[in-house]
Amino acid sequence: LSQILFKNPNEPPMVFHWFPFIGSTVTYGMDPPRFFKENRDKFGDTFTFILLGKKTTVAVGPAGNDFILNGKLKDVNAEEIYTVLTTPVFGKDVVYDCPNAKLMEQKKFMKIALTTEAFRSYVPIISGEVQSYFKKNADFKPKSGVIDLPKKMAEITIFTASHALQGSAVRSRFDETLAALYHDLDMGFTPINFMLHWAPLPWNRKRDHAQRTVASIYMDIIKDRRANGDAHEEHDMMKHLMNSTYKNGTPVPDHEVAHMMIALLMAGQHSSSSTSSWIMLRLAQNPEIMEELLQEQIRVLGADLPPLQYEDLAKLPLNQAIIKETLRIHAPIHSIMRAVKQPMPVPGTKYVIPPSHVLLAAPGVSASDPQYFPSPDTWDPHRWEVDSPNVPSIVRNGAVEEEEKIDYGYGLVSKGAGSPYLPFGAGRHRCIGEQFANVQLQTIVAETVRAFKFSNVDGSRNLIGTDYASLFSRPLEPAKIRYERRD
Ligand code: HEM
Repeated sequence: LSQILFKNPNEPPMVFHWFPFIGSTVTYGMDPPRFFKENRDKFGDTFTFILLGKKTTVAVGPAGNDFILNGKLKDVNAEEIYTVLTTPVFGKDVVYDCPNAKLMEQKKFMKIALTTEAFRSYVPIISGEVQSYFKKNADFKPKSGVIDLPKKMAEITIFTASHALQGSAVRSRFDETLAALYHDLDMGFTPINFMLHWAPLPWNRKRDHAQRTVASIYMDIIKDRRANGDAHEEHDMMKHLMNSTYKNGTPVPDHEVAHMMIALLMAGQHSSSSTSSWIMLRLAQNPEIMEELLQEQIRVLGADLPPLQYEDLAKLPLNQAIIKETLRIHAPIHSIMRAVKQPMPVPGTKYVIPPSHVLLAAPGVSASDPQYFPSPDTWDPHRWEVDSPNVPSIVRNGAVEEEEKIDYGYGLVSKGAGSPYLPFGAGRHRCIGEQFANVQLQTIVAETVRAFKFSNVDGSRNLIGTDYASLFSRPLEPAKIRYERRD
């Protein structure tokens, strides 16, 4: 009754709930996309629900994405929400443990390191890691077999990313100490840590120990590289960050380089690993697309399938479309949150969001809306073909107008205003890893289709469900598929 009687007409409608603190936490947590869609059908694009005692206002659709992701710094704040979770994992003075202006400078350092020249050197590194994984991993030794995919894709993702971005010295440590330490760090990256980040729980103690140990391993490598004049030929991120200087003239201190390295690997690992698992599960569900991918490579690169080069990736449109289409349906980040700092009128409505609320953007809702993507639940990479009507032109062409792009301090980025497809976010917190993720995923897919045929274990066209229990959505495990080696 109180929810009806004390309703403020200037606030968005509230999702009904029985218990004050819990509110809709459970229904949201079990299946966020379904929760968003059901409530959008009931209330429209803007509504509020209680998430762990906090009034959380969801704004979906292209206008909602724009309202939240392009919110002004005086109105919305990300670090207030994320810092309890990320600072114990990444470490001090980086990302959300510093003022936003400093994050923008750090993002600029990271983004500048990701040049075409760097990508050119990454493709052979990634190819080499994938090939050697398939050769050495015991589960891939037989001519055919059944594997639990997500664990394999997580390993392939971390080996390829660490080698390309962090250099061979860091990569070689992944075979021994670093893999276990990153696993402990990962345990600090779950929803439960939003509530219990401070508690002296065993996994928090492990997380803190792992953070200190990983940071000191990186700092030793940095010292070593500095002492030896950093003769590395590698175009890795560590080298670039070690030589970066803030606008006020301060060189980036070693502990910040180390913490940014952890942040980069953690930020990319979950999203890329989950995406690569979904791609492979979709290929097992659609074996004929896997054949088409191989034929595309044979047609474009030649029947002897020469070693992949960076330039080859742009010549393989179906290989690229696989990633776009998988991110459309399986975007790993389903909820993006901001604290509200000032009353914020929602354009085109009578609503004003007060500072006591949290805002939640869910770009996945518009990416699976039939208004923009016909038959949205069908995974169809061919919809990304140039003449297909199944992708809106704003998504295909991006923001063409110069004023649609904006510089928040880390280079020009598209505002994405009006786009229903934003798997990499928009605005000042937009992903700087998009191109790297694309290079990494496209190379992994191209190498995998050269090596294997995949199918569902039971020969069906079924797809495994989604696990929303971690902060990133990913396939429910075990997610087994059948592989057959190609000769
Ligand atoms: C931010 C998605 C891979 C580094 C973001 C955001 C999204 C996203 C949606 C915006 C978060 C927000 O607004 O709060 C993805 C997806 C990936 C991916 C779908 C892969 C498929 C990567 C990789 C890296 C990376 C590989 C590193 C090399 C970052 C960083 C930010 C970010 C540094 C900025 C956070 C901020 O400014 O608050 N990513 N990402 N991401 N991502 Fe990614």
